Amino acid sequence: MSDNFFRFHDLFAQLGLPNSPEAIAAFLNQHRPLPNDTLLADAPFWDEAQAQFIREKKLQDAPEWTQLIDQLSEALRETPDIRNAGSTCRVLALSGSLRHASFNTALARAAQSLAPQGMDIEVATLHGIPLYDGDTEAGEGIPAAVQQLKAQILNADALLMVTPEYNNGVPGVFKNGIDWLSRADMKAIFAKRPTGIIGASMSGFGTVSSQAAWLPTLKLLGVTLYSGGSVLVSRAQNAFNAEGALTDEATRKNLGAYLSGFHEFVRLSKAAKSSAQ
Ligand SMILES: Cc1cc2nc3c(=O)[nH]c(=O)nc-3n(C[C@H](O)[C@H](O)[C@H](O)COP(=O)(O)O)c2cc1C
Repeated sequence: MSDNFFRFHDLFAQLGLPNSPEAIAAFLNQHRPLPNDTLLADAPFWDEAQAQFIREKKLQDAPEWTQLIDQLSEALRETPDIRNAGSTCRVLALSGSLRHASFNTALARAAQSLAPQGMDIEVATLHGIPLYDGDTEAGEGIPAAVQQLKAQILNADALLMVTPEYNNGVPGVFKNGIDWLSRADMKAIFAKRPTGIIGASMSGFGTVSSQAAWLPTLKLLGVTLYSGGSVLVSRAQNAFNAEGALTDEATRKNLGAYLSGFHEFVRLSKAAKSSAQ
């Protein structure tokens, strides 16, 4: 009996589909390959209730269903993508604040702990990066702290920018770091890199202005921006406890849902990249 039978037996039953080994094999044969840019929930062969079930469970990151749903998604793709799409997605969450008790660094850490299965998040900051100076660059080259951050980004499949908001805009410290990186190797670091942007601020608007202010820069850098959800943590002083743990339940839920969507986005980008090679 095939592995697919053991894996998908319960999921097929839940979706109201015949779930004998033959029926599961026939379903996969009939509907494969599902294009890489189509989310499983958007596949044309589901009825409304089936699509809604898949979408809901992914959004909730329901532990008993998400892995099965991801496996079914993989099994329906082109053969080369199955292997690649199943591997872990590495994400670098880059905080744009240097503050020891930064809410944005705390948000990056919360993302790390809420990462869905199959996604590994490493947290990085901009400590040690000097102010950009063309003379420094000409005389000494790219600073070690920038080289280090470049290596961390190149080692990841995706970038998650965690931005504060200063005076309705992008904080200078964060922009300075990105400017240095653009000098280090703009194309390799940013072009087509799956990128998300989230942030926390103390006002009621939760970095909506700074996230919008990043857009022209991200466009120029050529990242592939995730726009399937948003995390705008407002009144951050009430969302985190004194130890920097994200305690606000609604924010935790929203962050989890965002990461789930971002995971699918990164996974599909990886699969598309691998099939283009
Ligand atoms: C120079 C400066 C400007 C700020 N401007 C804004 C702003 O426009 N909107 C906002 O929501 N918060 C603003 N804040 C408050 C920040 O949201 C708050 O300092 C937050 O804690 C910064 O993020 P961090 O905790 O990650 O360092 C500003 C803070 C500073 C220092």
